[in-house]
Amino acid sequence: MQYNIALVKGDGIGPEIVSAAVVALEKIGEKFGHTFHFADYLAGGCAIDATGVPLPQETVDGCLNSDSVLLGAVGGPKWDSLPGELRPERALLGLRSVMGLYTNLRPARLYPALAGKCPLRADIVARGFDILMVRELTGGIYFGERGRREGPRGPEAYDTEAYSRMEIERIGRVAMAAAQKRSGRVTSVDKANVLETSRLWRETVHALAREYPDVTVQDMLVDNAAMQLVRNPGQFDVIVTTNMFGDILSDEASQLTGSIGLLPSASLGDGPRGLYEPIHGSAPDIAGTGMANPIATILSAAMMLRHSFDLRAEADCLEAAVESALNDGCRTGDIAGPGEPAYSCADMTRAILARI
Ligand code: IPM
Ligand code: MN
Repeated sequence: MQYNIALVKGDGIGPEIVSAAVVALEKIGEKFGHTFHFADYLAGGCAIDATGVPLPQETVDGCLNSDSVLLGAVGGPKWDSLPGELRPERALLGLRSVMGLYTNLRPARLYPALAGKCPLRADIVARGFDILMVRELTGGIYFGERGRREGPRGPEAYDTEAYSRMEIERIGRVAMAAAQKRSGRVTSVDKANVLETSRLWRETVHALAREYPDVTVQDMLVDNAAMQLVRNPGQFDVIVTTNMFGDILSDEASQLTGSIGLLPSASLGDGPRGLYEPIHGSAPDIAGTGMANPIATILSAAMMLRHSFDLRAEADCLEAAVESALNDGCRTGDIAGPGEPAYSCADMTRAILARI
């Protein structure tokens, strides 16, 4: 089969890690007889520098005309003082929104080989964990009305959280269906003791749960969820939550796996086309040093094979190659122990390719 993949390398370490995932995909293509065609598009800070805007129309069109999008990361100190609408992050939010990608899947599992890198107590680590975070991605406070105004106490700013029943229901269905294929448990995270949007969230999730008698649904307040994640992560299977709570909890969960450099994500809508990216950022401090960990992006490419192209054996093969490299002790700097040699991005990529 032939697939057209739009590459949005972005800023910082983005180009290095996306290039690593491209060679991994090419190797998979060779092994399984597929051809992946790649086309580069600008977004984020590099697009601001080249065109004056974070998300050029050409990039939007390129992504909408592709079979799927692989993205590195956007942003960096150079563009930090730009006004909100012109910041590199707008590119990411804009792409998610125009592509209709309301589902964000963020798996966080502990590789046995990296158990020693988990910052939790040994008895908690021994129980392991394998969590699928299902984050709503095109609604909530990220996309609500915001602004500045003159208030009774002087200048103020506001951001608005709004969720429709439809938006909650469609992300809820994704979580229920995912749980049916896993251990059948969904934890719905909200702040229903304070927020009206959370009360609608809870109401809607409960109504939906009646349609999925084989799924056990539990509510959890977000502050408690943040605590439970470090107290006993093994209790979670699928977590479904809002855009902002999911952003925060997925960074927390990533650290339990040993490094945020390991975690992939898939952003999906109603069709097969998706946007795949590591959950970490552009890491400007290590850009160009060759120290970046390519694993999160390579695993994002594996998620693309699985979710957009339905190439399950190919996805399994790529994921197994990553796990086997970890089992054999290959470590980039973020996951190397004291005295362990740190692989460069290129060394780690070669180690994974060799195991495909
Ligand atoms: C993420 C990032 C983005 C988000 C930023 C860069 C807009 O933190 O993908 O988690 O908040 O969604
Ligand atoms: Mn984030």
